[in-house]
Amino acid sequence: MGLLAYADYVPEDEPLLAARANAADLGGTEPVLPAVGAVLRFLACAVGAKTAVEIGTGCGSSGIWLLRGMRPGSTLTSVDTEPEYQRMARKAFAQAGFAQNQCRLILGRALDVLPRLSDGAYDMVFCDADVRDYPDYLTAALRLLRPGGVVAFNNALLAGTDLQDGADAAESSDDDDLADGGSDVAALVRSDDRLVPVLLPLGQGLLAALKRGD
Ligand SMILES: C[S@@+](CC[C@H](N)C(=O)[O-])C[C@H]1O[C@@H](n2cnc3c(N)ncnc32)[C@H](O)[C@@H]1O
Repeated sequence: MGLLAYADYVPEDEPLLAARANAADLGGTEPVLPAVGAVLRFLACAVGAKTAVEIGTGCGSSGIWLLRGMRPGSTLTSVDTEPEYQRMARKAFAQAGFAQNQCRLILGRALDVLPRLSDGAYDMVFCDADVRDYPDYLTAALRLLRPGGVVAFNNALLAGTDLQDGADAAESSDDDDLADGGSDVAALVRSDDRLVPVLLPLGQGLLAALKRGD
């Protein structure tokens, strides 16, 4: 079995395919890979998530995966700077069968919005927006998560990180800002005793970490 078969093990269904098509039509936002989505759903289910924060709503793909793993009646709070993407996401959540009050969509820059969310009130935080801000999203996530909650970063290993080999780093050194964001968060998570990390080789790296209990 090839690697592709592993990646496609949990395929996208109609609502996810529609969300992906809307993202392609609008452009400028990239839905999570199906394999990343399947991990998000798994993690949300494993921690029994009732509340989650998503940074980077896009057209709703990752939100659907998260909500599908969360407990019945749960709430996803999702932040994005682009109203048109969030309009599409709202449609996608409805098409996937979720009630409007399960999806709290907040328009704005994540670093402006996150300080308004309550300490220790969330079971899961998923970061999929501006990689340069990932270290700040980590700080916010540590405040927002309850003990035993999980934070995940999509594309955590964007080019040039100290965890990549030299060849990969050289190839992608044309965007050092992005590289620095990804690099920082991978190193920060690995060295934080409050976190139990795992790095999965999906896309540009899916980094997840469980916040230890008190
Ligand atoms: C990779 S896409 C998210 C895709 C989405 N998670 C999905 O699976 O469909 C990144 C998103 O982050 C949003 N974004 C970029 N910078 C942001 C910021 N500073 N705060 C909030 N959202 C931001 C973009 O508008 C874009 O929709």
